[in-house]
Amino acid sequence: MFDLALNSRRSGAAFKPRALRWLLALGCAIAAQAAFAHGDVTPQAVDTKELPTLGDAWQDANPFRKNDVAIKIGTSAYNQNCARCHGLQAISGGIAPDLRKLDNECAGQADVKKKASCVQDMDAYFINTVRHGRTRNGAVYMPPFEGALNQEAIWSIKAYLETRRDRPL
Ligand code: HEC
Repeated sequence: MFDLALNSRRSGAAFKPRALRWLLALGCAIAAQAAFAHGDVTPQAVDTKELPTLGDAWQDANPFRKNDVAIKIGTSAYNQNCARCHGLQAISGGIAPDLRKLDNECAGQADVKKKASCVQDMDAYFINTVRHGRTRNGAVYMPPFEGALNQEAIWSIKAYLETRRDRPL
């Protein structure tokens, strides 16, 4: 499942049409490929022992917001699993969306209640995207992480991304 087109990107001559389509679909320049150089495509295990366990039922709002332990774990989990596409320190090189902007539309919301519900909607959108990944017309744009990362790890990544917001709330 994680044998993405990206693998063949590195093998040079054996550049498969599928990989080419993937790149073209993203419309990205080779110069923007730096992110692919960071580590393997295989998801990296994340040790979440220091965090309270959340059980099997997926939550739809981040239980670890502003949790320092989660932010620390999430920083490393992000670097190992997401940075190769979404950029180091969440600064996108243009290959994949800039995750610092994820909660941007909530930042403009003056009403406190509406802002909170906006952030929760973004949490739900985030967890769904990361669990299931993104496929378009049969091409994997982003691998699914469910089964590779537990929800403690995924929410930790969100807690980290919240420290990197483009427009702090
Ligand atoms: C193989 C590259 C790749 C990896 C690895 C990857 N992503 Fe993505 N991600 C993408 C692409 C490409 C998109 C945009 C997909 C689309 O346009 O349909 C995306 C979309 C997203 C979105 C939706 C963003 C938006 O603005 O709508 C979120 C959230 C996200 N990724 C989070 C993550 C997290 C967290 C990780 C690490 C656990 C991760 N991604 C790993 C490539 C990747």
